[in-house]
Amino acid sequence: MSTKEIPATELNAEEFIATQVEQISSAVGDGLAINALSGGVDSSAVTMLGHKALGDRLKTYFVDNGIMREGEPQYIADVFAELGVHVQLVDARDKFLDALSGITDPEEKREAVTQTFYKDIFAQLVQDSGAKFLLQGTILTDVDETAAGIKRQHNVFEQIGIDPQEAFGYQILEPLIQLRKDGVRIIAAAVGLPEAIWDRMPFPGPALAARVIGEATRERIALVRHATAITEEELAGVDAFQYMAILHEDRVTGMRDNRREFGNQIELRCWDSVDARIATPTRLPWETLEGLATRLVSEVPGVVSVTYNVATKPPSTMEVV
Ligand code: XMP
Repeated sequence: MSTKEIPATELNAEEFIATQVEQISSAVGDGLAINALSGGVDSSAVTMLGHKALGDRLKTYFVDNGIMREGEPQYIADVFAELGVHVQLVDARDKFLDALSGITDPEEKREAVTQTFYKDIFAQLVQDSGAKFLLQGTILTDVDETAAGIKRQHNVFEQIGIDPQEAFGYQILEPLIQLRKDGVRIIAAAVGLPEAIWDRMPFPGPALAARVIGEATRERIALVRHATAITEEELAGVDAFQYMAILHEDRVTGMRDNRREFGNQIELRCWDSVDARIATPTRLPWETLEGLATRLVSEVPGVVSVTYNVATKPPSTMEVV
C-alpha cells in the first residue's frame, strides 16, 4: 500500500488538524483509544491530536523502557501536565533490558524492543484499558526506510504486511503517516506544543539501544546515557538537525595517570538535514569538539577516545544501529 505524501510546503496546518481530529473521532466512535508518548515530536503531536479528538477517552502512557535519556519520563509528564494532558508513567525498565540481554545484532535489537513494547507491555495496557485503538506517530520516512529494507523501524506494521489486529489484537491509527519530520513540526506547533517539544531533535524508538554498538547491557546504556547528557548540554546552542553520542564495541588502548587503560570509544555525530533522508555532518567549531572531548574523557568513566563522524548519509545512516 502506498501513502500519498503531503510535503511541508503544501501543508495547511489547520486543515490537516481538523481532518485528522475528525478521522480519529469517527474511527474510535464512543470507544477508547490509547497511545504511547515517547516525548519525541511525532508521538507528542499525535497525543495532542488524539486529545483534541477524544479528550479523556484517549489514555496516554509513557513507557519507561530503561533506555531513555536522563530524566526523560518525568520531564515529559510535566510538559504534558502543563497542557492539561495526564500522562501515565509505566515502569518497564527491567523487561526491556532483560529482552536486550545477549543480543548484538542491530536488527535483532530493534526487534527485541519492538516485541517487548507491542506484545508484552502494550498488548497488556490495551487489554487492561479495553481500548481497541492505538494511536501512533509513524511518519513517511519510517515507512520508506522499512519498506526499502534499510532499517526495521519499530513502528511500521501494515506497510510491511503485518496485521496488528491479528498479531497484537488492536487496530493502529497513524495520523502523521503522510508527513515527514518538517511537516510534523508544523503540526506540533499548531496544536499548541511548546517550542522545546516541536523543535526537539529526533530520537529513535529503540532509544539508547540504537546508540550502543553491540550488546546494550545496563552498564553500557548507563555509559552512553551519561555521554548523551554531556553531548546534548554542550551542543544545545548548535543549529543542527540531530546530534548524538555513540558507544563503540571495540576497545582501544589509552592511558590515564601514567597507567594503561584499555577503554571505551565514543563517536560523536552531528547532522545537518531537512528531513533525515539525506544528511551531512555539521561543521562544528574545533573548540566545541575539543571541549566536548575533554568533558567526555574526564567525566564518563572508562572513555579514552572520542571521534567525530565526517561521512555523509548515504552511505552512512544517521544512527549507527
Ligand atoms: P537513520 O539512522 O535511518 O535515521 O538515518 C533517520 C532518522 O530516523 C531516526 N530513527 C528512528 N526513529 N525508530 C525511530 O522512531 C527507529 O528505529 C529509528 N531509527 C532511526 C533517527 O534518529 C533519524 O532522525
